[in-house]
Amino acid sequence: MKRRKFVQLAATGMGAALCPPLLSASNVDPWKQSFDASLKTHPELLGFKGIQDEFLESPDIHFEGSFPTALNGVLYRNGPTRHEIGDFRYRHWFDGDGMVHSFHLHEGRLSHRGKMIQTHKYREERAAGRAMYAGFGSHPPEARNVTHADQLNTANISVLVHHGELLALWEAGSAHIIDEKTLETRGIKNWSSEAKGLPFSAHPRVEPDGTLWNFGYASSFGALVLWHISPKGHLLRNGVIPIERMGMPHDFIVTEKHIVIMLPPFHFEPKPGDSFLEAHHWHADRATQLLIVDKNDFTQYRYAELPAQWVFHFGNGWEDQHGIIHFDAPRAADPSVMTEFFRGIMNGKFDTLPEGSIHHRYRIDTRTGIATEEALTGDSLTTDFPVIDHRVSTRPYQQVVCLGSDRAYGKPSPLFDSVLRLNVQSGNYDIYTYPDHQIPEEHLFVPAPRSAPESDGWIIGTSLDYLSKQTKLNVFRSESLADGPIAVATLPYALPLGLHGKFNPSSS
Ligand SMILES: [Fe+2]
Repeated sequence: MKRRKFVQLAATGMGAALCPPLLSASNVDPWKQSFDASLKTHPELLGFKGIQDEFLESPDIHFEGSFPTALNGVLYRNGPTRHEIGDFRYRHWFDGDGMVHSFHLHEGRLSHRGKMIQTHKYREERAAGRAMYAGFGSHPPEARNVTHADQLNTANISVLVHHGELLALWEAGSAHIIDEKTLETRGIKNWSSEAKGLPFSAHPRVEPDGTLWNFGYASSFGALVLWHISPKGHLLRNGVIPIERMGMPHDFIVTEKHIVIMLPPFHFEPKPGDSFLEAHHWHADRATQLLIVDKNDFTQYRYAELPAQWVFHFGNGWEDQHGIIHFDAPRAADPSVMTEFFRGIMNGKFDTLPEGSIHHRYRIDTRTGIATEEALTGDSLTTDFPVIDHRVSTRPYQQVVCLGSDRAYGKPSPLFDSVLRLNVQSGNYDIYTYPDHQIPEEHLFVPAPRSAPESDGWIIGTSLDYLSKQTKLNVFRSESLADGPIAVATLPYALPLGLHGKFNPSSS
């Protein structure tokens, strides 16, 4: 592909949405007032208040319980953190500026550090003391026009450690390079001069040998970008596939032979003044498309179809000797959790139960193009944030660790309350439910040294105790998850609820 075309792609995506002001800079934001009033009666909302700190540090915290001596490393996490600037409060959870965290675990001690990611947007707005750019779903007053998606990049979704480099990831723009020790932002990652600024999404898939695959979408241009990166971090190939109806894919599947990208019928149909989210429209009468691409030749692809559905995240995928692709995912009927719940919650709205996602198992026959799906669990158990043992990525697997909430028990909450270890073949699962005042965030599987894949290991994850206003780091033995955490460390502060992380066992 010619450089001119790459530059055009880089200039699209979220950058295309130009937003009008909705309130003057001198007005007090009614969303901020409404949220603060609701927080007094719904303390669960603490996780969505946001903080204004530039840097957080707790150097030496003792783990209560029996910390496993073989568990050493760093949990890196990312998520929306600054939700208000000046008098303006963001209109969507996903608009919060990203903070990268490092949780160092070593010999029963925890040290935590958090630092705001120095994106172009964050630096400009901090200097000005006001919101200056439209985001995923927000219209700040007097928002500037933009010409490139990285002007809006909040770097707030996930992290990746690849070939010794820590990256903070967003959905529609470039990755940011982060110093592993200090968490200083070193700048934007340029994989090559031709690929500069191309969208690099937040859920790259890494094979057991370190080979990295990713996609990015450029909605205004109607194209998907594909990435193939070597274990040593060298860009091997980019590909561009034209998409007639872009559907806001957030994650994808890689098998030994194929890349599969699910395109739900949440189509990009912008009108002047739309935010990026508002530019998407749900069509329940249209099919979900599954784009199946040959890993060795990005020009070779075909489509399969499923009924309309919404999937944020996939657990894993693999391909058998008969050409059947197998994968799993929490499946929702529509994207209302994103279009309504994560918007309303920024206004303090906490009285609706969002559409839940039910864990499903999928198959695609690559010979016929026929795709099928079936529910793995009962329809009262909602799940999301699935993760795997990284050593089975793109290979046959049985186990997914995910968050969940069983709405058949107690008072159904709009937020997750449990962590599960789910067998994707049998549908059986172990579950631990946190105390009422704790909200778990994504939990990861950490294999024990020299263990066989999906066998001995730990499940680690953070939870927000909104009553004590403290974030905890919880460690479980994988085989006895239901017994509860074996070790817990408590930070002296509450972190805003975040999104995704990675554990790096070699950095302690
Ligand atoms: Fe995600």
